[in-house]
Amino acid sequence: MYIQNLSLHSFRNYEHASLDLNPGLNLFVGDNAQGKTNLLEAIYVLSLSKSYRAVRETELIRHGAPRAMVKAQVAKMATLDLAVVISEAEKKRLLVNEKSTTANSFVGCLNTVLFIPDSLQLVKGSPGDRRRFLDVQICQIDPIYRSNLLKCQRVIRQRNSLLKEAWDNRAQVSQLPPWDHQLAALGSKIIFRRQEVVQTLQDFSQRAHQTISDEREELGLLYQPFFATEDDVLAQKHYSQGELEGILVEKIKELRGEEVRRGYTLVGPQRDDLIFRINHTDLKKFGSQGQQRTAVLAYILAELELMYQETGEYPVVLLDDVTSELDWKRQMLLLSILNEKAQTIVTTTNLGGFSTEMKERARVFQIEQGRILQ
Ligand SMILES: Nc1ncnc2c1ncn2[C@@H]1O[C@H](COP(=O)(O)OP(=O)(O)OP(=O)(O)O)[C@@H](O)[C@H]1O
Ligand SMILES: [Mg+2]
Repeated sequence: MYIQNLSLHSFRNYEHASLDLNPGLNLFVGDNAQGKTNLLEAIYVLSLSKSYRAVRETELIRHGAPRAMVKAQVAKMATLDLAVVISEAEKKRLLVNEKSTTANSFVGCLNTVLFIPDSLQLVKGSPGDRRRFLDVQICQIDPIYRSNLLKCQRVIRQRNSLLKEAWDNRAQVSQLPPWDHQLAALGSKIIFRRQEVVQTLQDFSQRAHQTISDEREELGLLYQPFFATEDDVLAQKHYSQGELEGILVEKIKELRGEEVRRGYTLVGPQRDDLIFRINHTDLKKFGSQGQQRTAVLAYILAELELMYQETGEYPVVLLDDVTSELDWKRQMLLLSILNEKAQTIVTTTNLGGFSTEMKERARVFQIEQGRILQ
């Protein structure tokens, strides 16, 4: 799939911008603080229905304007018109072909894979960073997963507040069983799906990684449910959903006292992790920066293949400021792989690092103070 045209109205520092995109490579060049990241953020909002960096949604509205709107025409099997309207006074609106729709049916219309300087947190960051990466991807290809995930997050919040109250008032413990039941049911579905997806990502990222590292190193990607020992993880033990539900029920019993003592939920997919290994050693602990970057790139490329496998279409790839985090060789390799497959939207402060061939193939735009010039 690819974005044919895009328009922004009162979005961040854009008053009004409208542009046609190339189905292949698009390069956006501009100095700092001109609106490069804002543009990618607008596309991301069209994809996931919300921003990855705004704390409050109204931040997206241009200062002084009543509402922000982002629209795009997306070419896939059929052409789709997508729009998001965010306003100070009213609820956010998501539109597909001019009809209002729910976030659950909106997400998945335009699939994206995002690479920002912060993406290196995938290896270096916290388990929460890694789970977010996984969830953002799975939500785009599986609306049932998305809805289970949101439900599970509500159940955990509810349990947490009961557990906190139970510290002073033991009677609250009697309120827990229905929430325990839901946690086991939803949690097992989430862990099961993530385990499945990681298995697929592992196969694709291994192949991508061999290309990038000239077959010198082997990447391993393993899912670690909260209850699993290191040996279980290394043995790549695969759990059925029934097994997972049984384990969650057991763990809820086993950890009841500990949960009440700590005042929050210790059981569930919110405590899982994703483990990266290079040649059988832990990449987070022992990998060099270069190895970590290569692994993140391989993972991004694997996400692309996963989406293709699940939906029959490659997603749109958004690369923010790649020049700041990837050396020239990795950038060129990434772009050459992507260019054969997916629409790619790249921002940079400086075109110097791009080959003439790349620049000729691409559509090049300048961004200056919230204006886009071709
Ligand atoms: N709601 C808003 N209304 C008006 N301007 C905004 C709003 N939100 C952000 N901006 C402005 O947008 C500009 C930053 O844009 P952006 O983050 O896209 O820059 P950039 O081109 O990616 O820069 P860099 O190269 O430093 O990453 C800032 O000048 C900021 O003040
Ligand atoms: Mg930026």
